[in-house]
Amino acid sequence: MYDILISEAIEGAAVDALRERFRVRYLPDAWKNPQLLAETIGDCRALLVRNQTPVTAELMDAAPALQVIGRAGVGLDNVDVEYARKNGIVVCSTPDQNAISAAELALGLMLALVRFIPAANHDTKEGNWNRRAFVGAELYGKTLGIVGAGKIGYLTARRARAFGMSVLACDPFLSQDNVLLADIQAELVSLEELFERADIVSCHLPATSQTSGLLSAAYFDRMKPTAYLVNTSRGQVVCEPDLIAALKAGRLAGAALDVRAVEPPQKGELESMPNVILTPHIGAWTHEAQNRVTVAICNDITRVLLGEPALNAVHQAVPQRTTTHQTV
Ligand code: MLT
Repeated sequence: MYDILISEAIEGAAVDALRERFRVRYLPDAWKNPQLLAETIGDCRALLVRNQTPVTAELMDAAPALQVIGRAGVGLDNVDVEYARKNGIVVCSTPDQNAISAAELALGLMLALVRFIPAANHDTKEGNWNRRAFVGAELYGKTLGIVGAGKIGYLTARRARAFGMSVLACDPFLSQDNVLLADIQAELVSLEELFERADIVSCHLPATSQTSGLLSAAYFDRMKPTAYLVNTSRGQVVCEPDLIAALKAGRLAGAALDVRAVEPPQKGELESMPNVILTPHIGAWTHEAQNRVTVAICNDITRVLLGEPALNAVHQAVPQRTTTHQTV
């Protein structure tokens, strides 16, 4: 009998502290196997996941004692939040804890694109010294277009301002008098205008039914041929076939993608394009962010299991399920 199932690789002192208090079943590869998940979740009161475990209605139904789902990260696209809410299961995530790391990666990818850093590294290690082959551009004086000006978009723009960039933002939830937009001196514009005017478009959207495939040919066709696209949010928001076609047609100069429509992706055309930089969804993967995320989510799981409200609940459903399990 277990209290908590951890179905992805989540480790550290905070997880050890959970083990001292509760019975923890640690199956870091269970996310790959929905049947195994359903068989093992049994009488667990908490489920701790990253973004790969499909937390479906069926899985919740297989766990009648489940009180809390902890998502070690921000995006909730792998969790059926509505079903959890209806069933009185608290869903917690860790907003803000990895936002700085994601913003720093976005800036890193921008610099990598405009200065050809990965290609120059590769070429130099081949024994070459081709300075003229790698004449890049400055971020200074350029225009950054932030698509989705939430916390990560804001932190990205703030760092871009320090490089001397001006900022355009598109976000249906914000108005021009928003204090964070004022802080980064951002101009709120339509998505069409953002794609037309930006030198770099940086995407910070969640994956929802509204954003799926949103960034498509209709927008890529408006880009300057010298402009770049950076996506560190969710792969589903970019229509990859349209992006490949736009890159081939020279509609934009290049792209950096940390996230993909399907992860891990099949090797395809993007992998062989010299003006495309690919990284394996590592925006949140710094020691600092992972530590903050793990501490925050283990803290919230502990709180719920002890009958206290979670600090970062997506919805404040009071657990309706009761259990007779004892903690060890
Ligand atoms: C997040 O949503 O927190 C990041 O994309 C990292 C992750 O999915 O674990």
